[in-house]
Amino acid sequence: MSTDRFSGKCILITGGAGGLGSQIARTAIAQGASVGILDTNEAAIQTLVSELKASGGNAAGEKVDVRDSKSVTAAVNQLAKVLGSVDVLIAAAGGSLGTPRDLDDISDDDFDLVLDVNVKGTFNCARAVIPHMKKAGKGSIVTFSSIGGRSASPVTGVPYATAKAAILGLTRRLAKEVGEFGIRVNAIAPGLFLTDRLEGMFNDMSKADQDEVIDAIPLRRMPKLQECVDPVLFLASEESSFITGTVLDVNGGRMMPN
Ligand SMILES: NC(=O)c1ccc[n+]([C@@H]2O[C@H](COP(=O)([O-])OP(=O)(O)OC[C@H]3O[C@@H](n4cnc5c(N)ncnc54)[C@H](O)[C@@H]3O)[C@@H](O)[C@H]2O)c1
Repeated sequence: MSTDRFSGKCILITGGAGGLGSQIARTAIAQGASVGILDTNEAAIQTLVSELKASGGNAAGEKVDVRDSKSVTAAVNQLAKVLGSVDVLIAAAGGSLGTPRDLDDISDDDFDLVLDVNVKGTFNCARAVIPHMKKAGKGSIVTFSSIGGRSASPVTGVPYATAKAAILGLTRRLAKEVGEFGIRVNAIAPGLFLTDRLEGMFNDMSKADQDEVIDAIPLRRMPKLQECVDPVLFLASEESSFITGTVLDVNGGRMMPN
């Protein structure tokens, strides 16, 4: 892919210090973007921003909890000032966040945490970038759903399924509202991608359990992280300029919608 695909563009990535977010950041920098990292993990932000700058890129980071709308708005405005614009938001902050899967083990706080970070966090970040994109007359927002929000996956629990399905409603409704300003909003729905965090879990599974996971995927293999990164950046880029309000399933065929 060309090194100036995103030249002159600023891409903000929430959860940008995480497994998928950091790989999106590296690729976006290699393709000419300026990158802003928003995450709660300050040490990981600093390490990544230093790495991105050392590779010759323009990058900055802000420690922020996406649940806190005032802090999100302040962080987005600060990154816009430092990096020059806000052209793309990739809202990757989220996940099950260490909460249990099984109903009997899920506390009220677990449910609130998963809904607040995934759904409210995505809303807060989208609302904060939209004024910048309206001013520019265009922009792209990529939200993070999951195969767990598209089907009743046994791997994750009810809170995660609820949150990732809600993100699809958020994505469509927002796309309708901001389309007239040239702003597109689309969701990505990944299957299982083995980030550093998940790789250990997969490697610890028995061979039979691993085979069961792989047998459920028509392409019969685990994906590389880059195979999620590239579809995300497709939605971020001008190559998807007439696509909005949609969801892109990236799961090797494990879940095929009707
Ligand atoms: N990896 C997968 O297999 C997979 C599959 C489907 C969907 N997803 C989704 O992709 C996104 C990224 O997943 P990942 O695997 O890279 O996860 P990850 O845990 O590696 O990264 C998540 C990042 O979000 C940050 N974060 C957590 N809470 C936050 C908050 N309140 N405010 C700001 N930042 C916060 C974490 O510090 C972390 O850096 C998530 O939304 C996840 O649900 C991942």
